Amino acid sequence: MMKFSNACLLRITITSSVVLSVLGHGRLVYPEGPERMTTPCHGECVVGNLVDSNVVDPYNFNWFTSGTAPGCTANGQNTPIGGKFCEEVMQPTLKSLDQLSNPTFYRDGDCENSIAMYLYKNDTKECAKDMQYRQTEVYKGNISASIYASNPWFVPGTAPLVDSCGVLGGWKYSNARDYIAGPGDGFYLESHGEGGVVNGAMPPKNMDPPAGTLGSTVLSWEVNMRMQNAQGDSVAAYPTVWTSGETVEGSYSLYANHGGGHQYRLCPLDNLINNTFDETCFQAMVMEFASDNSLFIATSDDGTTTVNITFDAMDINDNNTDGVMPKGSTWRKLGIPPCINAFTGNCTGPQFTDHAPPGYYGSYFDVAVKSPDFEAVTNRWKVVDELKVPEGLNGDYVVSWRWDSEQTPQVWTQCAIVTIVDPENMLGDGDSGDNDKDNDKCESLNDIVCGSQDFILFCDALKAAKLDSSFDKETWTFFIPNDDAFEKAGEILEPLSNDTVNNILMFHAVPGKILNSDDLKCGEKIEMFNGDSSRTKCINSAMYQNGAGNTQFLSSPQIIQTDIKFCNGVAHVVDGVMFPKFS
Ligand SMILES: *[C@@H]1O[C@H](CO)[C@@H](O)[C@H](O)[C@H]1NC(C)=O
Ligand SMILES: *[C@@H]1O[C@H](CO)[C@@H](O)[C@H](O)[C@H]1NC(C)=O
Ligand SMILES: *[C@@H]1O[C@H](CO)[C@@H](O)[C@H](O)[C@H]1NC(C)=O
Ligand SMILES: *[C@@H]1O[C@H](CO)[C@@H](O)[C@H](O)[C@H]1NC(C)=O
Ligand SMILES: *[C@@H]1O[C@H](CO)[C@@H](O)[C@H](O)[C@H]1NC(C)=O
Ligand SMILES: *[C@@H]1O[C@H](CO)[C@@H](O)[C@H](O)[C@H]1NC(C)=O
Ligand SMILES: *[C@@H]1O[C@H](CO)[C@@H](O)[C@H](O)[C@H]1NC(C)=O
Repeated sequence: MMKFSNACLLRITITSSVVLSVLGHGRLVYPEGPERMTTPCHGECVVGNLVDSNVVDPYNFNWFTSGTAPGCTANGQNTPIGGKFCEEVMQPTLKSLDQLSNPTFYRDGDCENSIAMYLYKNDTKECAKDMQYRQTEVYKGNISASIYASNPWFVPGTAPLVDSCGVLGGWKYSNARDYIAGPGDGFYLESHGEGGVVNGAMPPKNMDPPAGTLGSTVLSWEVNMRMQNAQGDSVAAYPTVWTSGETVEGSYSLYANHGGGHQYRLCPLDNLINNTFDETCFQAMVMEFASDNSLFIATSDDGTTTVNITFDAMDINDNNTDGVMPKGSTWRKLGIPPCINAFTGNCTGPQFTDHAPPGYYGSYFDVAVKSPDFEAVTNRWKVVDELKVPEGLNGDYVVSWRWDSEQTPQVWTQCAIVTIVDPENMLGDGDSGDNDKDNDKCESLNDIVCGSQDFILFCDALKAAKLDSSFDKETWTFFIPNDDAFEKAGEILEPLSNDTVNNILMFHAVPGKILNSDDLKCGEKIEMFNGDSSRTKCINSAMYQNGAGNTQFLSSPQIIQTDIKFCNGVAHVVDGVMFPKFS
């Protein structure tokens, strides 16, 4: 039929990200976690005093370990502000004022406030004297004098966790009321304005999963449901596909801003199975920040970007502290400053102005504690960091975002599963830049496919299909199954005649058109070279290219690598063989 040729003049480019970031309400905005983690309320439950018309699913902000501090055992308890969490609590390793989110914790008049009073047994004079002393010490750089100095952020990464993917509601309490303000007299103290808060409300009605569920349990459900749905076929890649060695985005959003800092870490999904899915695993693979900046992004309801501010980030590591955990890793202070008045609930300014987007400060669970600009973007914002995917990884990994709180004895963690592809196993040379455009030798489809180690079977199929010279006069879009895909379909393909196999092969090509990933529209049909149509399906943020025969034989092939340019067209990699309708 057609014949391949090498006489072409473009250079291949690979942009491997199929998946665009979707702004959710979760703590970890991107990559996005399983649905039961990101929307435990499914948009249907209302949470006591956390009701906020802009937050559809407020409990998706509540995956954390409550009652934990550096050197102590996690216990789900609250401590009064300023108290030591336990006798063994570690001395702060942070060294400078700008590493704190809340350098200011005392202002004149604060001791008339009941929370401050609680510490000093209603002795207003003693309170004012001690608070003034502590504040002066901290301003001089004596970090250990902070009333928050016992909390996780002061020794980054050291406070123990119950689960590296969080606990819904912070702890597995036996009494539902404990979720409001902790066990014991927590609720009494909180309702008298004296104690701290765990979730600030009863767990909502109709929540699935229920409060107390471990994040890792939700991931196990996710993995097992995918296996059951695949019915014995190897399962598809996860919706977020990253390439080893590339720079990707991670983003988070906050509901209540307790200050502190964060990190993104990885652990192989396999470790979930053998009980080694813990901080040791995640701390062995911290993702490096790929730039010194963070991005503050806000969107309107329809997803249009309305605010886009790049700002200098504040990095914290062994070089500017007395040590972080894991050793040699880098943490980053949260990019949103809390309000300057911690106790009065009346926001008059930001705690800091460096390393933050100008004008955006406070928490957003209450109008009184955020700036007007921040109020205007409500829950539709995120802070984006560029992260480096470590070299040499291949397979499914869990990303855990860890936020060590400064004002409270709490650590937030939330997880997502991503598929990481090693460029060694990718189509093409894995070069994603246009940086040597003037290299004038372009590659043919045949060169690219037959030169990549994971595409031997498609290479053989191309060679077997006797392509004539019209092939390189036309333009083409190809969907190319990798070797795994052919192996999965082996039993179906083997008994078929050469003509039928050829027909299937031609069902992977679109003649006369260059369809880049941007041109593939969810739900739309594409007429393929054999005359049948395939359809682009989108599920969450994953894209599939489906043939009528796929429902009969194998589940829809997912597009796992996009926009590989060859001389006269573009190719996308699919993880399954596309089948036309069989007669
Ligand atoms: C502080 O004062 C309040 C109100 O007067 C009282 O209920 C509470 O018991 C006092 N707390 C302490 C620790 O003395
Ligand atoms: C720093 O503050 C702590 C706690 O108030 C105090 O015990 C210590 O003496 C101060 N250190 C210095 C060097 O002043
Ligand atoms: C658990 O699984 C991981 C990933 O397969 C492996 O590297 C690790 O050695 C296993 N650990 C134990 C204790 O079996
Ligand atoms: C934000 O601005 C940067 C720099 O101009 C740009 O690269 C990026 O695409 C923008 N992001 C969004 C979501 O608009
Ligand atoms: C600390 O500084 C040294 C020397 O500048 C540098 O090589 C190293 O990467 C830094 N460590 C971190 C964690 O940034
Ligand atoms: C907050 O500040 C405004 C302006 O200074 C003042 O009118 C208001 O009473 C304050 N509210 C509280 C709760 O302190
Ligand atoms: C099918 O093609 C293969 C490889 O080109 C060839 O060896 C074989 O004889 C063909 N079979 C039939 C039935 O034509």
